[in-house]
Amino acid sequence: MPPSPHQPASPAATRTPPAFDVIVLGAGAAGLFCAGLAGQRGLRVLLLDHAERVAEKIRISGGGRCNFSNLGTSPAQFISANPDYCRSALARFNVADFIALMRQHGVTFHEKHKGQLFCDASSQQVIDLLLAECAAGGVQHWQPCTMAAVQALPDGGFELETSRGVVRTAQLVIASGGLSIPKIGASDIGYRLARQFGHRIVEPLPALVPLTFDADQWAPFVALAGLSLPVGIRCGPGRTKAVFLEDLLFTHRGLSGPAVLQISSFWRSGQALTLNLLPGLDAGAWLRDAKQQSRRQLGNALGALLPQRLADVWLAHLGLDPAKPLPELRDRDLLRLAESLNAWTLTPSGTEGYRKAEVTAGGVDTRELDSRSMASKRQPGLYFIGEVVDVTGWLGGYNFQWAWASAAACAGALAGAAA
Ligand code: FDA
Repeated sequence: MPPSPHQPASPAATRTPPAFDVIVLGAGAAGLFCAGLAGQRGLRVLLLDHAERVAEKIRISGGGRCNFSNLGTSPAQFISANPDYCRSALARFNVADFIALMRQHGVTFHEKHKGQLFCDASSQQVIDLLLAECAAGGVQHWQPCTMAAVQALPDGGFELETSRGVVRTAQLVIASGGLSIPKIGASDIGYRLARQFGHRIVEPLPALVPLTFDADQWAPFVALAGLSLPVGIRCGPGRTKAVFLEDLLFTHRGLSGPAVLQISSFWRSGQALTLNLLPGLDAGAWLRDAKQQSRRQLGNALGALLPQRLADVWLAHLGLDPAKPLPELRDRDLLRLAESLNAWTLTPSGTEGYRKAEVTAGGVDTRELDSRSMASKRQPGLYFIGEVVDVTGWLGGYNFQWAWASAAACAGALAGAAA
């Protein structure tokens, strides 16, 4: 066992770097939870982060109320090159386990849309809960602290060169997250360390991110910025086709809202999206009936189905006269209008990138990790948890549930390995 960092150092020992059982790199959701659990199992844990404050993403998550999990969590809501990898960890630490922890800490919460669980008061309560768990485990915090280099030691364990000096550890957990929102601390350190130890990286991409369009293509819709409505949205061919029924939000540069954030995790450059602006309604049948039964003007008729602002822009975009009485609408224009409403097909030029992405898809290839422990199959004593790994949840609290579940699986394995 390496010497305790809490013991007074003898003159000879001052030349020996302090040593821990576990160092966790990254004091975000996964790192804090893993560090606390490992500490409570009797391990000496150091949690190291280059940011001033812990868990900035929890703080800003869920509009400040942290959508910390989802009642419907199952492996089906996760995207990965290795879709079964998340199964074991999610089954062994599930949403009920995190709810029990919230109750134990007296944090009240509520269910919103589609099983999403939010704090009643503030996401700070989840951060306080995690810090209390770390305190209960005697976790040491070095923050802000940057890490310059890591090397594996010949007899096992690792030596880290940090801005607070050299430090050793028997086991090293990488919980450094993805690339989203660099201004609050995201970096590629996790991928660099993974490569250093021979791991492959599944190409990282911004996900849960607004989609953008060329300025010319988007010009007709700029006036709709701020408008929101429920839609069906899909993209991708054949078996990889993804479909969501959620709210769409028009922006100055393109599309956002839950529908687009969800589909963005599946969308690949060059692919078209298809949107149904009237989900559950056959626009062609509705327009044919209306044409026979009413002399209403087209603009008014469409305004009964869609927000009037959208109806007006839509008809202008198709070159249809909103003042035309319905019976005078030519069949081919009716068909064109119906098709555009039920299957609006358009190809984004890109995404808003990591500046706006909630998560990073891709990451450390899970085919080289153990799904029960999150341990590297290439380097003994090395683990990867949370978003740095190629496991990406849908919008709705799934990414935090993955952070908790992967952290819990890892903490159990750390304790087992140290015993
Ligand atoms: P996380 O990013 O939380 O932590 C990584 C830590 O590593 C950070 O503290 C960082 O400073 C540190 N680090 C990085 N590079 C380092 C380096 N070089 N040296 C030292 N430390 C380094 N999910 C969800 O389920 N529900 C929600 O409501 C939301 N909402 C949401 C809103 C917004 C605006 C964003 C950006 C994201 C979300 N998410 C979310 C996603 C969720 O925040 C994310 O998936 C988890 O925080 C991932 O947890 P990790 O611990 O893996 O990484």
